Order: sequence, then structure tokens, then C-alpha cells
Amino acid sequence: MMSFIAPRMDRIKPSPSSMATMRVRELQAAGRKIIGLTVGEPDFDTPPNIIEAAIHALRNGQTRYTNVDGTPELKDAIALKFKREDGLSYSREQITVSNGSKQVIFNALMATVAAGDEVILPAPYYASYPDMVQLAGGTPVPVICPEDKGFKLQAPDLERAITPRTKWLILNSPCNPTGAVYTTADLKPLAEVLLRHPQVWILTDEVYEHIIYDGIRNATPAQVEPALYARTLTVNGVSKAYAMTGFRIGFGGGPQQLIKTILKMQSQSTTNPSSIGQAAAIEALTGTQDFLAERAEKFRERRDLAVAMLNAAPGISCRRPEGAFYVFPNISGVIGKRTPQGDVIANDLDFGLYLLDRAEVGVLQGAAYGMSPYIRISYSISTEKLHEACSRIQRACAALV
Ligand SMILES: Cc1ncc(COP(=O)(O)O)c(C=O)c1O
Repeated sequence: MMSFIAPRMDRIKPSPSSMATMRVRELQAAGRKIIGLTVGEPDFDTPPNIIEAAIHALRNGQTRYTNVDGTPELKDAIALKFKREDGLSYSREQITVSNGSKQVIFNALMATVAAGDEVILPAPYYASYPDMVQLAGGTPVPVICPEDKGFKLQAPDLERAITPRTKWLILNSPCNPTGAVYTTADLKPLAEVLLRHPQVWILTDEVYEHIIYDGIRNATPAQVEPALYARTLTVNGVSKAYAMTGFRIGFGGGPQQLIKTILKMQSQSTTNPSSIGQAAAIEALTGTQDFLAERAEKFRERRDLAVAMLNAAPGISCRRPEGAFYVFPNISGVIGKRTPQGDVIANDLDFGLYLLDRAEVGVLQGAAYGMSPYIRISYSISTEKLHEACSRIQRACAALV
């Protein structure tokens, strides 16, 4: 069987968050009272106006193939969004629509990365980036972004990582898993480095743009440094902001030549994203935006609860993130300790398994995101459940010796 599978599959692993979430669901179905803190999606419902737009599309015959990379109407709505929220101008020909922002990133890497090309990934990173780079035949180059720098990429570290083979830098703000947000002041020094290296393109993944706190504004590279516009792919989507993960609509704005190549790639794989999802996305982007701030405020309350309760757990120290719905606590204080069963916690995977077994709480190990010893916790869950999960983590930590 193994020789039947292509060698490229040996280069990648299944998405850790999807796998962990599936494992949590299995254990719950088997009757275990597990609280899953692994999910990567808002727990809120899709707003009713967006649901209505999808139903309307179904009833009005929008059930056929569309243009491969999105309907003109959706592209216009996306152009409006980029202008309104990011100060960026993109024409229809500079916009592509895919089955989630993940496919935009996948298409872009497959269309541009050749064997031996390097892609710089500020670590911790979204766990799918290195695998997508490797599937495309490239080499992921992780660059550690230390906690004491807010988990953000520093200009000297970027400069050191760039080689003549560097093709892309992938930025992600707000960041999964750390919640770090890049402001204009953070991006300026990075832009200065990038201006000196014209071979490096910038892929900026801003899918958590609207899940942001404390009045901070997410900055976008092509706006902060217009000279980078011609080599930046700005990626976003409706999944997280509008609680539309199942609709599978993501989009990118960038140079026409790149967008055309992405279209070619998509035309030979998935063809257009769902016509119904596209109709719903138009309503998401052009309808009322009032609930965005209300939902961000609910997430902020949960962030504050999670940070306070985790910092009260012996051995855990948790930085307060500025965005997304994750915290990325440092667990170095539990490494080397023993469980009541006598097992040593040697790394963040051990700690995750201990929490699953002892506390019946599902989390993800920092190793999956390129930085240890940390864990990733999603607080996209009701306040009651979050409180209960954090209490369980506190008790499990207190039981370690
Ligand atoms: C940083 C980041 N980018 C992209 C995605 C993919 O989202 P979608 O394909 O639903 O737009 C995710 C989902 O978890 C993510 O965390």
C-alpha cells in the first residue's frame, strides 16, 4: 500500500487542530465529559441576514457554476471591503475567491513555490503553513518570535532569515495561535527590510482581522508600505468574522499576474467555490456590520477570563493577546513535574495528554505551531464552559508534583 501513496504525502501530516477536534468529538460521543478547547471557529451563529441571502440564492436559481475565481458581484463586494477596512484598492482582475482563505494560500504557494524555494514563517505559525509549503516542494524557514517581543517578528531576525532563495514571507495578524496583532509601528521596520530584498513576496493572512481588542488596529503591509503593494497577496475571508466557516469562502487581493495563475490552478482543481456561499458572502460584506464589535466584545470578556484563570494555575503563565480567539500560555513551569500516576511531563504534548486524561479538557500542544513548551487554547466556547475548563486545568496543575 505504501508504495501506492505518492512520496509527497510523507512530507506532510494531518492538520493537528482538525485531528484534535475530531478526537474530542469521538471521546464526547463515547460518553466522556470532555470540554474541547481545540476548535478554530466562532461558536456564534451565522447572522440571520446572511442565512437569508443563502436561502434567497438557492430559491433564485443561483445553483450553477460561477466564474472559477468568483462572481463579479462578490468581487465588487470584496473590493469595497478592502477599500473600506484596509485602505487598499483592488480591481476585479486583482481579486480571487476560493473555498476558504486556506485554498487561496494553498493555490498561491502551489502556483509560485519551486523545489528549493524558501518560505519564511514567523513562529509560532498557523500549523498548515509549513505543510502547504512542503507539499509545493519548498522549504519552510521558521523564525522564532519570542514571547517577550509579543510573539512578533523582529526586523533583524527577518533580515538574517532572508536568502537569495526566499520567495515568500507569510505574516498572520491577528495570529493563530498567539493572538498577536501587528500594528503600523510593528510593520514599518519589517517593510524596511523587505524593501531591500525585492525577490521576497509577502503573503498576509488577516482572516481574524475583526476579532481584535482594546482599540488596537490591525495593519496591513501593502497599506503601511505602498512600495510593497506590487508583491503582496492580501488574504482574508468570511469564516471567522461572520461565523461562516462551513460556507467555505475566502479571498485574496494581489497583482494581476499572480491572481491569473491562481485562477489557472483553481480551474484544474476545485473550480468555483459554492455559488450559495458566494451569495451569502456578498451579504456578509455589504450588509450590517454592527454585530462585529458586539461579538468581539464577548470574545474580549472570555479572553480576560481565560488569561486570569490560567495565570492562577501553578506552572502556567499566560500573555494577554490582542486578537483572534486563542491564548498561547507558556507551560515551562510544569515541565519536569510528575503526575499523580508518577509520569513525568517532559513536553507540551505530554501536558496536553495529561489534561485530556486528568482534567477532561482538550488543548493543542505548542509544538504543532512551532514553539514549545506552550499550549494553544481556543476560548471560542461559552463563558460557563470556559470557566469550568480553566478550573479543571487549575486543579490538574495543582495535582502535579
Ligand atoms: C490563520 C488562519 N488562516 C486561515 C485559516 C483558514 O480559514 P478558512 O479557510 O476557513 O478561511 C485559518 C483557520 O483556522 C487560520 O487560523
